[in-house]
Amino acid sequence: MLSGKNILIGITGGIAAYKICELIRMFKRENANVRVICTPNALNFVTKLTLQNLSQNEVGIEEFEIPDFKPEHISYADEADIMIIAPATANTIGRMANGICDNLLTSVFCAFKKPVLIAPAMNCNMWQNEIVQGNIKRLQECGYEIIEPETGFLACGAEGIGRLCSIDKIFNRAVNKLFVQKTLSGKKIVITSGGTIENIDPVRYISNYSSGKMGIALADRAFELGADVVLVSAVDVKRKYKVVRVKSALDMLEAVNNEFDNADCIIMAAAVADYRAKNISEQKMKKSSADEISIDLVKNPDILKEISMKKFNKNSPVIVGFCAESENLLENAKEKISKKGCDYLIANDISRSDIGFSSDYNEVVILDKNGIVKKLERAKKYDIAKQIFEVIYGQDGADKNNRELCTFESC
Ligand code: CTP
Repeated sequence: MLSGKNILIGITGGIAAYKICELIRMFKRENANVRVICTPNALNFVTKLTLQNLSQNEVGIEEFEIPDFKPEHISYADEADIMIIAPATANTIGRMANGICDNLLTSVFCAFKKPVLIAPAMNCNMWQNEIVQGNIKRLQECGYEIIEPETGFLACGAEGIGRLCSIDKIFNRAVNKLFVQKTLSGKKIVITSGGTIENIDPVRYISNYSSGKMGIALADRAFELGADVVLVSAVDVKRKYKVVRVKSALDMLEAVNNEFDNADCIIMAAAVADYRAKNISEQKMKKSSADEISIDLVKNPDILKEISMKKFNKNSPVIVGFCAESENLLENAKEKISKKGCDYLIANDISRSDIGFSSDYNEVVILDKNGIVKKLERAKKYDIAKQIFEVIYGQDGADKNNRELCTFESC
């Protein structure tokens, strides 16, 4: 399956290094060419001879050790189709996130332009350390994919998160990356995410618990499939694609309208506040002697409905809405899709704590105007995003939706 593919595996100094021997074997079984780079500390856990035998290639450790016409880190980086760093220690993660190139592995990483998978493994307190989490976030913002560690019994004797994810998972993720087709190349996909913020005064606002994770996962996936992505985000996020930072529902409406004309698909994953304060106080509102006060609210525009009403011809974008319900999921979703006039509605149950708001997981039902199209079982938001694009565009990137033009009287 992997014949002709060049896999570069970077091993750093953690006890999980021994598990990478099996990963090398898995790639070799599929006829891939595997090259291994170790940090010097990795060799405290696994020997050079073992790695050399398994990969059937010279193992790189020190920079400048093999005289060549090309600097060694450049030749490693040029040759490989994918780089996998596993296990990635907190130390190496810190160096990579800060552009430090003080050994062969970190230099190759810095020079590497193709997909990189990073599988961290460390003690649970180290993983949860704010500095390490900041470094992980920085790497994600730069487009590197993190395969999160798992929870369980750790080599240091502690119980918690930090164990290297399964070798199968790393292998499968790498194979998926190697064969990802740019099926959305040439398509402009606009995605909204996060909960809008509606100011009351300079220090107070109305908002909701949306983390923006579902919208970001959709945008990441669309980017991976080669789309020209615009993420209209109410939460702070940095990515390699275009991010338009907005605050209120009115800002979001303006940003979406600005992107509408040449968009192929608009996905409204944001949790838009239905109401905003009628008057935003310029000064901080002072506590009065009254025990109760009220704030007048006015309705925000329904962005999804407004853009669905703009579908004038078959070249108009595919419009996809989300639907957050805490009860009667399907009945409410069916009513909502006919009210909003979008092409698809993705319904999720926000009453469950194991999916939805703030969680890394979701479980959704996709509907179109005729009813249920597909139910997606509980999975990581990235995997849900993957399946959503398969429903909209199929495996080949062709628009599968038999769209109807807007049927509202006002159109
Ligand atoms: N939406 C929108 N503009 C609004 C409110 C919601 O564009 N002012 C979009 C959301 O981005 C989502 C869809 O409409 O794609 C459904 O949002 P949801 O919160 O489930 O429904 P609401 O329309 O707000 O209705 P309700 O709060 O009564 O459930």
